[in-house]
Amino acid sequence: MTDSNFDRAAELIAKASRGVAFTGAGVSAESGIPTFRGEGGLWRKYDPIKVASIESFLADPSSYWSIARERGRESLAAEPNAAHRALAAMESAGHLAAVVTQNTDGLHAAAGSSRVIELHGSGRRVRCLDCGAEESRADVQERLEVELPPHCRTCGGSHIKPTVVFFGEAMPVAATEAAFELARACDLMLVVGSSLVVYPAADVPATAAERGAPLVIVNAEPTPLDDQAAVVIHGRAGEVLPKLAELASSAV
Ligand code: OAD
Ligand code: ZN
Repeated sequence: MTDSNFDRAAELIAKASRGVAFTGAGVSAESGIPTFRGEGGLWRKYDPIKVASIESFLADPSSYWSIARERGRESLAAEPNAAHRALAAMESAGHLAAVVTQNTDGLHAAAGSSRVIELHGSGRRVRCLDCGAEESRADVQERLEVELPPHCRTCGGSHIKPTVVFFGEAMPVAATEAAFELARACDLMLVVGSSLVVYPAADVPATAAERGAPLVIVNAEPTPLDDQAAVVIHGRAGEVLPKLAELASSAV
């Protein structure tokens, strides 16, 4: 983590006019939402296929919701942190065209980013797989304390599911197309807080790099795309990004 890395990254941000930020769970870690992989990660505690695959959800929604109840207590109360705010500032300053996120927590929008592509859906809404009725995740959270699994308020069905992408489900078509279009057209790809091991999401930064856009990676740990990056900064997003935003705003 040398100063010259910060300067080089800031210079690339300052020069960008249609940059794209690609974010993962690490950007929300400092808001108190646990990541999936790495230290303290959710998938160290639970088998993702048992917890978040569509097959096991349909067979046993209660198991999913008992874990979602715990996670919901943390994520529904979470507030954007300095990293989310720095990305919103980079958009306002004209350097970022959009944030493409794998997160479902809504914190980029809460921080003021105006164009946010949610590749894995949104955890703020819940949809009934039987009748299609939707309600807010916060309302379901209240019911979870007394009702497992929670039932649909409209039809009484027992398969209401957050509008997030589960294993075995396709990614939302419009969001996926928008993300790849942005990746093909960007002049900077700024990756923040993602292990870059989940596909097809990780193809978004890979596509930008293949097209020749400089890749800047800010992550606590190494990623499989580090060797393709123009700059890699290992550190905490909430500390690194505000510095980059400030350096970029003072660079010519
Ligand atoms: P991961 O949990 O796989 O990776 C988070 C990365 O953030 C790790 O490499 C950490 O080292 C890093 N990290 C942790 N704290 C950090 C901090 N404060 N600052 C910077 N980096 C930090 O999360 P994702 O890459 O988002 O999919 O995972 C991708 C997908 O896998 C998720 O969207 C989810 C999961 O299964 C679905 O739910 C469909
Ligand atoms: Zn229903």
